[in-house]
Amino acid sequence: MNSISFLAQHGHLISVTAAGTGPTIMLLHGFPLDHRMWLSQLATLSKTHHVIAPDFRGFGGSSLSESSYSLSDLADDVELVRQHLAPERPISLIGLSMGGYVAFEYWQRHGQHLSSLVLVSTKPTADSEAARESRYAMAAQAEKLGTWPAVAGMLEKLLSPELLAQGDEIVRATQQMMRDGRPEAIAAAQQAMAIRQDFTRHLPEIAIPTLILTGQHDKIAPPDETARWSAKIPNSHFDCLTGVAHLSPLETPVEFNQRVLSFLPSSQG
Ligand code: MLT
Repeated sequence: MNSISFLAQHGHLISVTAAGTGPTIMLLHGFPLDHRMWLSQLATLSKTHHVIAPDFRGFGGSSLSESSYSLSDLADDVELVRQHLAPERPISLIGLSMGGYVAFEYWQRHGQHLSSLVLVSTKPTADSEAARESRYAMAAQAEKLGTWPAVAGMLEKLLSPELLAQGDEIVRATQQMMRDGRPEAIAAAQQAMAIRQDFTRHLPEIAIPTLILTGQHDKIAPPDETARWSAKIPNSHFDCLTGVAHLSPLETPVEFNQRVLSFLPSSQG
């Protein structure tokens, strides 16, 4: 596994972890996490693919940009990474939750470079007014009290109750990622997600093969809602991973990786 950093146009560093050779898969992490949520995918998918996992601004090894950003700026960061590391052939993009919001933006801005999409525990809708308010409250709390007091309440939504009760390595690793996010990064990401656009009306325009996954117990992207919007994407397949919540790549990596690998050969030559 290699770590590489790029200097983006606006002066921030984008850190990327990459492994393997073959058709390229780019992995976009959720909030408030970083590329480490994909360690199992970096290890397994890289046996047959070139796997790239960037860190969004302010998370993992990436620095925060001086000015505020939108999710379309993050999609442009992803495009910069693609141009440097996988310029030749269209790539598969896998985005979880916030990473899925950025994947929608990438599809709209740079879709000609995509061979397929995997949208995990995410949604195409914009925030309600109440959801937006709670994002601004979390942003203010992070800046005032620090990262952990602001994000701790999310843990129970990210992982299944069984896993949390066991308190095993996955719980510790998730908590560590959550603690490592800098307060300014937490605030900036919440502000960017709060103003994201609604992609619902564009779903019928997504023509590439698309796999949509969520967890049986996911409260952020519940299976029934996810099945409903998935059906609007013409060339799509929806699947629900049993026994897990929001972070299926971490909670059930073997099943997750199998789903992705059995989907990809049909969409990558
Ligand atoms: C995530 O997992 O990225 C977040 O739950 C997304 C969100 O806050 O909407």
